[in-house]
Amino acid sequence: MIEELTFHRLGIQDLADLVVLEQQCFSAPWKEEQFLLGLEREVFKVFGLKDGDELVAYCSFYHVVDEMEILNIAVVPERRRHGAGRRLLSLVLQICLKMGIQNGHLEVRVGNVAARALYASFGFQEIGVRKGYYPDNGEDAILMRLDLENLSGA
Ligand SMILES: CC(C)(COP(=O)(O)OP(=O)(O)OC[C@H]1O[C@@H](n2cnc3c(N)ncnc32)[C@H](O)[C@@H]1OP(=O)(O)O)[C@@H](O)C(=O)NCCC(=O)NCCS
Repeated sequence: MIEELTFHRLGIQDLADLVVLEQQCFSAPWKEEQFLLGLEREVFKVFGLKDGDELVAYCSFYHVVDEMEILNIAVVPERRRHGAGRRLLSLVLQICLKMGIQNGHLEVRVGNVAARALYASFGFQEIGVRKGYYPDNGEDAILMRLDLENLSGA
């Protein structure tokens, strides 16, 4: 049940779980060293949803002054389409508002229908395309931006 998932700021202690989740969700997953390098920097923040001790979703972003960039959001495959992605992004964006962040941006694969719909439902708007951006398959990246004043659905 989605209501039973608990929201956490994730850190070094969650590294192994993050790596496993990442491997389940992406063709070119972040490796342990990449998470480690990120988690050692104050600008990099990761939040997640847990079912008991089990990490079922995470969202990472960079935070610089009044801007944030979503790096990733992922829900473990067997838990998708039950509202976990929406709940996590909502909680993350509410925290961003409290931190005084005014603008959010991100890149998403053009073929990632699920993520594009999720972001759009929060008010992210498509503002550009980076042609052939992803090196593994040459897929285009869609650039999306949100003025947090216009946040919807959170
Ligand atoms: C994108 C992702 C995080 C969504 O998580 P989720 O828990 O399944 O999403 P939710 O159930 O909360 O759905 C929220 C909204 O997302 C959109 N969405 C989610 N899955 C979708 C799908 N398969 N097709 C179309 N829209 C979808 C819908 O707008 C949905 O709202 P609705 O249920 O009112 O239609 C999940 O699909 C995932 O982990 N994908 C793999 C990792 C990834 O590609 N991350 C994005 C990197 S930029």
